[in-house]
Amino acid sequence: MDSNGETKPHALVIPAPAQGHINPMLKLAKILHSKGFLITFVNTEFTHRRLLKSQGSDALNRFPSFRFETIPDGLPPPENTEVTQNVYDICRSTQETCLLPFKNLVGKLGDCFSPVTCIVSDLLMGFTLDAANELGIPEFIFSTGGAGALVCSEQFPTLLDNGLMPLKDPSYAVNGYLDTIVDCIPNMKGIPLKYIPPFVRYINPGDEFMVEFTNVQIKKAKMASGIIFNTFDDLEHDILGSLASVFPPCYGIGPLHLLENNMADQTLTSIGSNLWKEDPECINWLDSKPPSSVVYVNFGSITVMTPQQLAEFSWGLANSKHPFLWIVRLGLVGNESDGLPPEFFQETSDRGMVAGWCPQEQVISHPSVGGFLTHCGWNSTVESISSGVPMICWPFFSDQFPNCWLSCEKWGVAMEIEGDVKRDEVERLVMELMGQEKGFMMRKNAMSLKNKAHDACTFPDGSSVIALELLIHQMKKTL
Ligand code: UDX
Repeated sequence: MDSNGETKPHALVIPAPAQGHINPMLKLAKILHSKGFLITFVNTEFTHRRLLKSQGSDALNRFPSFRFETIPDGLPPPENTEVTQNVYDICRSTQETCLLPFKNLVGKLGDCFSPVTCIVSDLLMGFTLDAANELGIPEFIFSTGGAGALVCSEQFPTLLDNGLMPLKDPSYAVNGYLDTIVDCIPNMKGIPLKYIPPFVRYINPGDEFMVEFTNVQIKKAKMASGIIFNTFDDLEHDILGSLASVFPPCYGIGPLHLLENNMADQTLTSIGSNLWKEDPECINWLDSKPPSSVVYVNFGSITVMTPQQLAEFSWGLANSKHPFLWIVRLGLVGNESDGLPPEFFQETSDRGMVAGWCPQEQVISHPSVGGFLTHCGWNSTVESISSGVPMICWPFFSDQFPNCWLSCEKWGVAMEIEGDVKRDEVERLVMELMGQEKGFMMRKNAMSLKNKAHDACTFPDGSSVIALELLIHQMKKTL
């Protein structure tokens, strides 16, 4: 209760335990806090230990109205505590084991802190909806990929029923079958099969589970009180519209880092979300470079590449002769011993910086950054677009494929490295991105979207500002 005797809304926010999920959900939690909500942010025990290590306990635990809690993820502790857990394992395990600890936690919060008045849960943590229904608490689902990715995944059953998927024979992948245009995905007209999240090909062990898991999470999301996206109306207007016809109300409240800058309580800035320690030198290094001159290279928190692919990227970058900032995270190449060769560092010492992790939002909006070589994670895509930075895409996993297609084909802000990466192709695309007509056009398109993103999050009639107000109104409805 507040000083007027009124019940304070209390949002429990629970992301899937991965960087690309924690980041946007923590931003939303901070925004809700600034709007008067008590916040309980729930991590898995393993992820929270990592967060405490990278951010420090003092930074996280000093706000009585913004608290962290944990539940176990049901997995044995990983050998290497600095790498992202296997996504399939974590999905399976949280689905099978987390419901009871989660229900117990909600009960404990009611007894010892304040009753939970709404749950904001990651699309991948659908077990929370069973608890929400049982306890009579409204639940909002946060879909951390783009709306385009969700509209594709929603059609998995249709693709399977129509016999388009799974790949009967993986050799289809090389004889052009994956170029088949799919016409059943609303507002993604012209998308070829190869840009549908690739689990549905059933090629890798666990793919079939992942499709079934996705279908279950989507079915559950349809029963929630609303679906939240880190997107903005001008970017995915039509797709949001088509989702609204099969899902509960959809709220595009992104780009959340802009909304956070405009709205969140600045006292909470000490609460960071990075699971790896950021290298502060990156910004100093960028400060020393001319405007729009640097290629920023980062493949996010999940991508794993082979030593050969790492070599192709490194020599492609080196041969392009452009300055670059490359984040090579621990675990980017499965085997930690496969690093970059000394000759690469010798060749690029006058123009390259390699670091283990960086403050990406600051990096990508730095005036020296002129282009982004990315895996197309949704957060990276939105952060790049809203900074007016064009991209080269190398999608690796899941929603990164539709994100890549939208960026290249619909928004005209990116080019793709097709097939297996080759150094000559990397060199050619970097030169095109940084210095040629196509790069110039893509930058212009990105700048136009940047302005729209800022409008959406800044003005009282901005689409994301309004969507946030509607969302909060819905969240408080049951008080
Ligand atoms: C994952 C999936 O890969 C992605 O497709 C999905 O949309 C979200 O979950 P991830 O691979 O980590 O995410 O990529 P991305 O979505 O881009 O999220 C990474 C986040 O970490 C971004 O917010 C980025 O700003 C941040 N980051 C990344 C840093 O702050 N520093 C880094 O060095 C790298």
